[in-house]
Amino acid sequence: MLSRNLLRTSARAAGSATRATLPRTTAPAGAAFLHNNNNPLNNADNKDKKHPSPPPGAFARTDDSITVEYPEEDKMPASAPVQGRGGFHMKRTLASFSLEGRVGVVTGGARGLGLVMGQGMVISGANLAIVDMNKEEAERQAVELVEVFRNENPGATRVPKVTAHYADVSDADSVQGCIEDIIKEHGKIDHLVTSAGFTENYNAVDYPIDRMRKLWSVNVDGTYLFAITVAKHLMARKAHGSMVFIGSMSGSIVNVPQPQAPYNTAKAAVRHLAASLAVEWAHAGIRVNCISPGYMLTALTEKILDENPDLKKQWTSLIPQGKMGQPADLMGPLTFLLSDAAQYVTGADLRVDGGYTLT
Ligand SMILES: NC(=O)c1ccc[n+]([C@@H]2O[C@H](COP(=O)([O-])OP(=O)(O)OC[C@H]3O[C@@H](n4cnc5c(N)ncnc54)[C@H](O)[C@@H]3O)[C@@H](O)[C@H]2O)c1
Repeated sequence: MLSRNLLRTSARAAGSATRATLPRTTAPAGAAFLHNNNNPLNNADNKDKKHPSPPPGAFARTDDSITVEYPEEDKMPASAPVQGRGGFHMKRTLASFSLEGRVGVVTGGARGLGLVMGQGMVISGANLAIVDMNKEEAERQAVELVEVFRNENPGATRVPKVTAHYADVSDADSVQGCIEDIIKEHGKIDHLVTSAGFTENYNAVDYPIDRMRKLWSVNVDGTYLFAITVAKHLMARKAHGSMVFIGSMSGSIVNVPQPQAPYNTAKAAVRHLAASLAVEWAHAGIRVNCISPGYMLTALTEKILDENPDLKKQWTSLIPQGKMGQPADLMGPLTFLLSDAAQYVTGADLRVDGGYTLT
């Protein structure tokens, strides 16, 4: 069951935490959050008191007993494109927001935030190349995106071209082959969005080193490799272009209660990579920005939180807007940063987090 794969009790007792040795529990997902004394909501000492007071620092600490491993591919719920966002309209807005005539690439675009951001590019007029390690799902969603577009734009004279491509973003040869494939299909690339990435939770001293390296190679190397390969293409064409890296609010703050030091560090690297490349490529007319989402409700997080309402309460209690974000909340910020409306914006980190990082 997905829940058992996702949330396990600590491997501390088992010594070094590896996939094979982590003890599975029969507790429901989220049990680690609900049944430990570090969680101020469950502190046994507090239960009988009329006015319980949490121990000092309790709401601002990570909890070593939480271990969440990124699930296997076959345990992942599929995502679906958003309905009712992409119809033709005559509302006035800046023409510079349009991505008409552009070709966009989204890594990790078969699912979750990447899928909906890709859809945002299509709605804004771009053709799209979906890149994912799960090519089958990318192919299915490419067909799905065009279908949704057709339904919402009956009689449209131009239907966007949406293609699916395999790449392991952490592998330089795979990235190079993928970019060549996209250029063969679309003729050019103007925009890149790097959404391939993942998180998992282990306390730092038990984090299996091979998993930590994998996490960094996908989140950081993957962003870097795609960015430089697209930049070389733009420079060879002497064309302007823009990129948005998907970081996370975790690149600026430390989430609680789940421990995830390597993920937080990787996302800080993604944010500063955007700033660094923005400076390095400004002369070539290539803009690079970062979007740092807060807690977003994807098919995956929704499934976890449906099974763990207390965890959802804990997270949302820290968000000034009082709710998690929807993937579609990223469409506008992404389109703005990619488009000519943001032509003097480069190296920025746009936090889309309901105010989480402000408090
Ligand atoms: N969901 C959130 O709450 C949230 C919050 C902040 C930041 N983020 C970031 O947003 C991005 C997308 O997250 P999501 O929730 O949509 O995740 P997701 O797991 O739903 O989707 C990630 C996609 O990336 C693909 N992928 C993973 N490794 C890959 C690799 N090596 N090569 C190619 N493709 C690969 C997966 O197959 C999947 O389709 C990630 O970088 C994540 O860290 C997510």
